Amino acid sequence: MSEQGLIAAASIELASGRRMPILGLGTWQARGRSALSAVLRAFEIGYRHVDTATVYGNEEQLGQAVAESGVPRAEIFVTTKLPPSRAGRERATLEDSLDALRLGYVDLWLIHWPPGGLARPDVWEQLLELQAEGLAREVGVSNYSVRQLDELERATGRLPAVNQIEWSPALFDRSVLEAHRRRGVQLEGYSPLKTMNLRAPQLVRIAGAHGVTPAQIVLRWHIEHRIVAIPKSTNAERIAENAAIFGFELTPSDVEHLDRFAETQPE
Ligand code: A2P
Repeated sequence: MSEQGLIAAASIELASGRRMPILGLGTWQARGRSALSAVLRAFEIGYRHVDTATVYGNEEQLGQAVAESGVPRAEIFVTTKLPPSRAGRERATLEDSLDALRLGYVDLWLIHWPPGGLARPDVWEQLLELQAEGLAREVGVSNYSVRQLDELERATGRLPAVNQIEWSPALFDRSVLEAHRRRGVQLEGYSPLKTMNLRAPQLVRIAGAHGVTPAQIVLRWHIEHRIVAIPKSTNAERIAENAAIFGFELTPSDVEHLDRFAETQPE
């Protein structure tokens, strides 16, 4: 399969049976023309998954890119997020997002942060309601703790499809990963690169052994763990670099080293 085909086809199965591309383009802090050209470039390369949020202020550019790309809607996976400040105005917020995105539904809609630091099952109920109406195919949360996931389930009988949290080898916590697995909640990691020292010697060594870049090793590590990764870039070369991770594999020993990355960093 071509590199482009590989990026598009690499996906994980959510609890519902629906599939989600394992690699997406992050767009936090991408604005205006640079957001538009980044998303267009990503679609050209073969990305089929883009992550945004109401607060990113770039849903309109993303919508324009989807429309201009010529990629069929059904092949694209779009995530956006409800700001905690809009708790209580869920429907209006999602309708605004859909207008800006020029879409009839989003693939995944997340509560961006626990509102006021609380799980807020009442807000979660609204997401479930809007999902039932077809405005979001999947619903989930972001920046929730495992206890807060359980609180949502206790109150509504429904777990989020996805919890999007900050994640990288530097932040790896096996117990958090396993807690998500046991519940059937897909872990999606944000800031895979920003949270890493890409010049760390053991990362550079592993990258050298595979003939790839440290950033590619970090992203491939997510794939080996079946964790969705959404590296952000507005730079055409780095957008391509971040997707060229399907032609090699890490060894079990590489993965183990990276899992212990935090322990091996100088204080
Ligand atoms: P840029 O947009 O100029 O490429 P994260 O997704 O972890 O939050 O990281 C985003 C940051 O990492 C951005 O500043 C982005 O800058 C930079 N970045 C993205 N891809 C790479 C890469 N392959 N190598 C180094 N830095 C990268």
